[in-house]
Amino acid sequence: MVAESVSQDVVLIEQQGAVAFVTINRPEKLNALNSAVFAALEHALDLLEEDVAIKVLVFTGQGEKAFVAGADIEQLAQMSTMEVVEQMTFVHRLFLRIGEFPKPTIAMVNGYALGGGFELALSCDMLVASETAVFGFPEINLDTLPGWGGTQFAPRKMGSNRAKEMVLTGNFYPAADCREFGFINRLVPPSELRATVLELAQSMTAKHPFALKMAKSALQQADGQGLLAGMQYETLAYTANFSAPHAKAGLNAFVNRKKQGPGS
Ligand code: COA
Repeated sequence: MVAESVSQDVVLIEQQGAVAFVTINRPEKLNALNSAVFAALEHALDLLEEDVAIKVLVFTGQGEKAFVAGADIEQLAQMSTMEVVEQMTFVHRLFLRIGEFPKPTIAMVNGYALGGGFELALSCDMLVASETAVFGFPEINLDTLPGWGGTQFAPRKMGSNRAKEMVLTGNFYPAADCREFGFINRLVPPSELRATVLELAQSMTAKHPFALKMAKSALQQADGQGLLAGMQYETLAYTANFSAPHAKAGLNAFVNRKKQGPGS
């Protein structure tokens, strides 16, 4: 049995048979991703890679409302460009590892999957969404851009035109509107989400682990060609934008939105 929680419980691991549910546990902040979550996720991957009893990983968010509402904007707004580059490098490696993980990975999307949350979901091999899920890349509304692989995952997972629409408009898309985009494997009512994910996961748990690992690594070649180089380019584009004054202004507008009175 794997550890049940890591790093102050910002990430929880729960085992059901041969399936591990990895839950991002900051529901009060809609599971926004900060450095503590990333460190805990990396530790969770270390544990689950070694654990031979675990055959499939499922990523999800705590609570009814959000899978993950993106990067923790309050933390991001405080960071220097150097810190942002370091974090991007770490997160690129982490999300690539999820795609290349030697066991299948499924995103169980139970609510908002925005920005970094959408990137995390797209880094998984498969995605099962509740009808309450909402997808989007709102970064452009904060005068910034996706920085954790979104510019690379999105065209691969949904095609160039749809990816450009999502990234350049920053609009929110209810799951039903995304069905035809091709990145959702199953779309189900919220009450059926966990059972559907479990059924999908269990249809892989009995397969030979080495055959699964090899099949996944071959599929990743098709999906992943040039992915790292693309992410490195994303780092350049992101930090060029982040180091300009308007980027922090956009982030701070979100951070301060409740402090401002009406009409301000
Ligand atoms: N980073 C940090 N905190 C976040 C967050 C994020 N990405 N998303 C939500 N939160 C926090 C809110 O600040 C709020 O905290 P508070 O109660 O201490 O003020 C709490 O989570 C609940 O969010 P709230 O905005 O009150 O919920 P809502 O139902 O009114 O709106 C969203 C939900 C998802 C539309 C809204 O939270 C949002 O736009 N979040 C940012 C999404 C985003 O731009 N992500 C990309 C980041 S680069």
